Amino acid sequence: MKAIYPGSFDPTTNGHLDIIKRAVKFCDELVVAVLDNNRKESLFTVEERMEHLIVLTKDMPKVSIASFSGLLVDFAKKENANIIIRGLRALTDFEYEFQMALTNRKLNEQIETVFIPTSLDQLYVSSSVVKEISQFSGDISKLVPSQLEEVIHRKIKRRS
Ligand code: PNS
Repeated sequence: MKAIYPGSFDPTTNGHLDIIKRAVKFCDELVVAVLDNNRKESLFTVEERMEHLIVLTKDMPKVSIASFSGLLVDFAKKENANIIIRGLRALTDFEYEFQMALTNRKLNEQIETVFIPTSLDQLYVSSSVVKEISQFSGDISKLVPSQLEEVIHRKIKRRS
């Protein structure tokens, strides 16, 4: 079974990595797909975000990294994947995720969304929270993979 794990990954958090590690347990192949959307302002370029993911998943042979623009279901079809993986954190995620899953199924009913509940210690980890903490030079070491800690602080500093 081939699955797509789509997202902005701006930046990749421990929460994302937790979902990737758990998804590979039941997928034969997992394509982590970074959304290339120039309308959305991002901290890292798509290339940088892909590079982060390549480093973080280098010991996971089932995982490949790609970028996509346009509709997710079209990308999934092109990749011959019929599963979309999404992580679910608190209940606040639910409405947006449910709407997205239903919309994607309306667009292509061959493709199913599978939700993975986040691990308890990643419950409130999000890319936006990471960026906000870093802006105030706070400690993000428990929220992001150690390889990304410095890069995030540096990028945020250069930005402000
Ligand atoms: O990490 P994010 O930002 O919550 O990921 C959102 C993502 C990339 C999964 C979503 O925005 C997406 O799939 N965008 C592609 C456009 C699309 O297919 N839209 C229709 C479904 S609502």
